Amino acid sequence: MNKPMIAGNWKMNMLQSEAMAFFKDLAEKTKNVTHLDTIDGVICPPATLLGLLSDAARTAKIELGAQNCHWEPKGAFTGEISPAMIKDLGVKYTIIGHSERRQYFAETDESVNKRMLAALGAGLVPIVCIGEYLEDRKAGRTQAVIQSQVKSLLSSQSMSPHVVLAYEPVWAIGTGLAATPAQAEEVHALIRGMLIEALGASATKIRILYGGSMSPGNVAELLAMPNIDGGLIGGASLKPADYFSLLEAGIARALTIAR
Ligand code: 13P
Repeated sequence: MNKPMIAGNWKMNMLQSEAMAFFKDLAEKTKNVTHLDTIDGVICPPATLLGLLSDAARTAKIELGAQNCHWEPKGAFTGEISPAMIKDLGVKYTIIGHSERRQYFAETDESVNKRMLAALGAGLVPIVCIGEYLEDRKAGRTQAVIQSQVKSLLSSQSMSPHVVLAYEPVWAIGTGLAATPAQAEEVHALIRGMLIEALGASATKIRILYGGSMSPGNVAELLAMPNIDGGLIGGASLKPADYFSLLEAGIARALTIAR
C-alpha cells in the first residue's frame, strides 16, 4: 500500500460560513495529531471556496483540491476554470471525470483525458475517477467497463505515479451501500494489474482510492485491502467529526504498514 490519501469531495455543498466553521472544527481536532504527515488529507470544496479556504486548510494541515478543470489554459469557455487558475490559488489537486460529471455533464473518456493532461501540465495532481453503473455490474460487465476506462487513460500516455485514480462504483455513490472490501479489492487489483502491465513496476506507486459510501464504519476494512490506497469520500467528508475519523483510520493504516 502507498501513502494513504483521504480525499473529501464536497460536491455542490457548503457556503462560506459553513466551510469556515468546518475547518475551524477540523483544525481543533488535527492540532495534536502527531502522525498526520503519514497520510495526505485533501478536501475538494466547490471552486468558489478554494481561495477563501487556503489559510484555514493550512492551519488544519489539509491540502485543497478542485472538483474539475478545463483543458484549455484560457479563453472563451464560459463557466469553466483552467488548471492554471486552480494552481494560482495554491491548490494542489483536482478531481477529474467524476461519475456525476460523466452522467450529468456529458463528460467522456476523451474529455477526461484532455482534462487530465492539462492538469498534469499545470503541475496539479489529478484524481481521476472511473467506475461502473449498477446495470453493468448486474450484467457481469464490471471488468469490461473498468478495462475500457483504464485502457483509455493509458492511451493518453500521461499515466504516471503523479496521477491518483479513484474507483467509484456508481451504484455505491450516495446510496449508503458501499462495495464490500472484497468487491472493491477485486477491481483495484484488476486496475493495478493493467497499470503494471503497461507501465512496469513504477505503477505500483500509483494510488488507487476507493469511493462510494465510505464512512467511519467501513473505512478500516476497506483500507486493509492491499490495493486500496485511500478513499474519495462524499457525504462523510461534510462533517468534521466523520472526516476526522477517516483521517485517523488512514493514519492507523499507514502506521501498520510502516511497522
Ligand atoms: P459518497 O461518499 O457520498 O457515497 O460519495 C462518493 C463520491 O462520489 C466521492 O467522489
